[in-house]
Amino acid sequence: MMFTMIKLYAFLVLLTAISSYAQQASDITTGFGAPVSYKDASLTVGRGGPMLLEDTEFIDEMAHFDRERIPERVVHAKGGGAFGYFEVTNDITRYCAASLFSRVGDRTRIAVRFSTVAGESGSPDTARDPRGFAIKFYTQEGNWDLVGNNLPVFFIRDSILFPSFIHSQKRHPSTFLHDADMQWDFFTSRPEVTHMLLYLFSDRGTPDGFRFMHGFGVNTFKLINATGHHVYCKFHYLSNQGLRNLTAKVARQLQVDDPDYSLRDLYNAIKSKKYPSWTLYIQVMTEAQALNSSFNPFDDTKLWPEDVYPLIPVGRLVLNENPTNYFQDIEQIALSPSRMVPGIKPSPDRMLQGRLFSYPDTQRYRLGPNFLQIPVNCPLHVRNYQRDGPMSYNNQGDSTVYHPNSAADSLNVSERAGVLSPAYFVNGDVSKYDNGGEDNFSQAANHYQNVLDEGGRVNLVKNLGSALSSASEMYQRRALDMFGNVSPDLKARLQRKLGLQ
Ligand code: HEM
Ligand SMILES: *[C@@H]1O[C@H](CO)[C@@H](O)[C@H](O)[C@H]1NC(C)=O
Ligand SMILES: *[C@@H]1O[C@H](CO)[C@@H](O)[C@H](O)[C@H]1NC(C)=O
Ligand SMILES: *[C@@H]1O[C@H](CO)[C@@H](O)[C@H](O)[C@H]1NC(C)=O
Ligand SMILES: *[C@@H]1O[C@H](CO)[C@@H](O)[C@H](O)[C@H]1NC(C)=O
Ligand SMILES: *[C@@H]1O[C@H](CO)[C@@H](O)[C@H](O)[C@H]1NC(C)=O
Repeated sequence: MMFTMIKLYAFLVLLTAISSYAQQASDITTGFGAPVSYKDASLTVGRGGPMLLEDTEFIDEMAHFDRERIPERVVHAKGGGAFGYFEVTNDITRYCAASLFSRVGDRTRIAVRFSTVAGESGSPDTARDPRGFAIKFYTQEGNWDLVGNNLPVFFIRDSILFPSFIHSQKRHPSTFLHDADMQWDFFTSRPEVTHMLLYLFSDRGTPDGFRFMHGFGVNTFKLINATGHHVYCKFHYLSNQGLRNLTAKVARQLQVDDPDYSLRDLYNAIKSKKYPSWTLYIQVMTEAQALNSSFNPFDDTKLWPEDVYPLIPVGRLVLNENPTNYFQDIEQIALSPSRMVPGIKPSPDRMLQGRLFSYPDTQRYRLGPNFLQIPVNCPLHVRNYQRDGPMSYNNQGDSTVYHPNSAADSLNVSERAGVLSPAYFVNGDVSKYDNGGEDNFSQAANHYQNVLDEGGRVNLVKNLGSALSSASEMYQRRALDMFGNVSPDLKARLQRKLGLQ
């Protein structure tokens, strides 16, 4: 009896000793999980002495801090975003077999990132700039990214010019200032920018936050249906809140008073359950229509006229969930037009073709080669033979690492994905064909005369005039000639505004 009591006592002592080692959930720990001994001072030799290399708690903290920033996006560095869903409202399976469109009523989770383009990550939200409006759809057949802007056309039509175009809009190499001469030198050397400039310098160049603007895929894609037939396609996602713009004056004032105006507006709207939504539409063009088109349907400086290629409704995009951790969900999100799913393919649009390479390339650099394993980028299912590299969180266990193989866990190629990747014919002499002779002004002229009202034209001239007033006279004169091709009236008004004879 006595012996048993002693045994029980010893057991209880042991138990208390073990439980006294159990870490409390609220204990501060190092990155490797050990409890921190003291948080308000570093380890020193005496009160006034130097710090010690053996202060591993200090080094753990400081070394992590030293690496907190990742490279900002080379463009679209400042942005905000949210989560939500896409719901199919209309059947488009005759055009597209992508799984997310397969049934009316189906919902797919989405992540969205909005951004400005030219400014650094701390720059003000209300600058005159296109707004990025990019959507990641987490579909059953992989992630589909629709990486669009709030304006329906783009500045240039061949991706080889994109780095130069961006350099001309960012900081001058010696002054490190934004430089009107660089900007207008590039613009006036490439008249293809004209259509986009009419949008950018109209009131739509300063949208009122992210909720009151539309989204456009801009580039031309190819949709494939279940029997392998294709059409070309443009994506539009139109705001159910309507369009709202800021005047140039208010936009400028907000740059000072509330540089995070658009982020704040989006966050607060979702927080107070005013969930913003957009309606997704497609425009489709058959191969025969593309061959017979009076304009180049693969030129992203052009719109497809809606009377010939009407908007076909597809579904609703709703944002109803704020991120809980900005860095994890928004800074680390990687969106790329190259992320397509069965039923969606690229067209020969040269801007799209260039983007297919550029985005994953910059993302491997910005976030590391395993960026697709970061939770916000991770698709619902992945099985393949990719392994290793830094930060490999999903290294696919002990499964076979090569193809083809005879193992029991051997993976199969999807027959459906094969049907949805039909062969297509191309033929031509390999060469660098510039797009000389391409129409640069017809759609811009239509925009000036028929899309803008008189108030819009007045503001366009005011906004263009104020941007051009910082450029040298040589570039002002070149701009006058360029806008003269849009409308003699636009040229005359600008000329008066700039005080040029
Ligand atoms: C050849 C032309 C283009 C090139 C080479 C290019 C390149 C890039 C690069 C390198 C990034 C940074 C990506 C990252 O760090 O994750 C980016 C971001 C972005 N681009 Fe482009 N871009 C081009 C044209 C366009 C066009 C035409 C659009 C609009 C349809 C567009 C919309 C966006 C958006 C929305 C983002 C931000 C994505 C996000 O929120 O993370 N870009 N672009
Ligand atoms: C695919 O498109 C072709 C051409 O328009 C059409 O004949 C065919 O019925 C479509 N297939 C499906 C499954 O809708
Ligand atoms: C925003 O600007 C566009 C283009 O100038 C114009 O069509 C639209 O009516 C404007 N909307 C508002 C609410 O100001
Ligand atoms: C080709 O385009 C012209 C106008 O651009 C149109 O009148 C004609 O009907 C089109 N032909 C076909 C086969 O689509
Ligand atoms: C591949 O296909 C075969 C035959 O249909 C099937 O038995 C096997 O389970 C499939 N493999 C996987 C990993 O699903
Ligand atoms: C349109 O502008 C581009 C440069 O942006 C130029 O290569 C092309 O020749 C121009 N088209 C015409 C008809 O002048």
